[in-house]
Amino acid sequence: MIFFRKIKRSFFWKIFLLFFVKPIYDFIWVYIINFQAKLTLISWNSKKKNYFNLDNNNQLIVRNDKIILNIVQELNKICTKDFLDKSREEMKSNEQHNLELFERLEYNDKEKIINFASSELIINTAAKYMGIFPVLSRIYFYHNIPNPNGENEMQSQKWHKDGMGYKGLDFFISITDVNLDNGPFFFLKKNNPLGAFSKIENAIPNPILGERNKISNEEFEKIYDKSDIDSIVGPKGTCVIVDSYNCYHKGGYVKSGDRVMLRIAFDTIDSAVLNFDEDKYKSNNIFYYNKKHINDVDDKFLKFLYFKRSSFMKLFKIPQKLLKFYQIFHYKINRNSE
Ligand SMILES: [Fe+2]
Repeated sequence: MIFFRKIKRSFFWKIFLLFFVKPIYDFIWVYIINFQAKLTLISWNSKKKNYFNLDNNNQLIVRNDKIILNIVQELNKICTKDFLDKSREEMKSNEQHNLELFERLEYNDKEKIINFASSELIINTAAKYMGIFPVLSRIYFYHNIPNPNGENEMQSQKWHKDGMGYKGLDFFISITDVNLDNGPFFFLKKNNPLGAFSKIENAIPNPILGERNKISNEEFEKIYDKSDIDSIVGPKGTCVIVDSYNCYHKGGYVKSGDRVMLRIAFDTIDSAVLNFDEDKYKSNNIFYYNKKHINDVDDKFLKFLYFKRSSFMKLFKIPQKLLKFYQIFHYKINRNSE
């Protein structure tokens, strides 16, 4: 066991994964597990479209983009004093520091977000990065305030990767201005080519609920330089596009003030998150938005984007088994390896 652990942190293992295991699995992932999504992308590609180019990295920060600024301007109007006060009060009375408000938005605001998430620019960015046609898995409209139960970073406010899939793409878009105090999203800008096949070795020992596989700042700083880290700090409309399964990140730790963030997540049928929010689709509507019913969507690409699920994956618990498989192969990132 100790021998195996030693191997998994060695340079040899890293090379073995990088040049042997990962290329073979990448092929299987695209052409077998996600074959239908690959075919869908091939027919989608017949038109020329623009996209944000991640250029083989698993993160990109976008500032001052007109299309993003437009939607943010619209959504910022939702964040009136009343709206935020009400949400703040609710969090305080429930001892929460984070509230997800998408479900409560007006229909036309939901529609704006869904239309943006299904615009060619956004779909194409996700498709180009993932190499297959994506599924729009989650939309969140987060409001964050300081932790009522202590001043320290908690749960996803600590460094982690979302170990729920092989490849995905998240758009984090700030709807209010973000500074260093009101909960910026931080991410590792140093590329991690092993992605889901790697994990930082020294996670927080004896983790409490929500701290499993999280990395303390001290440990993280022993491995990476400050110059390897970037954040969403900036005026509203700053956007971080990140593969949260492959890229270490943390966010939402508010010291003072508050922030509102839109998160749009794209996944594939083998991702374990796809069955998380099943109640949102119970009547074949998309995200509590009952104007978009599966029967109303004729476009085959949008149908795939909104509603594609695999009962085979669910029945045989394939996503969970794949996660186990990545775990077995995990290269253990440690202080000597970066
Ligand atoms: Fe996360």
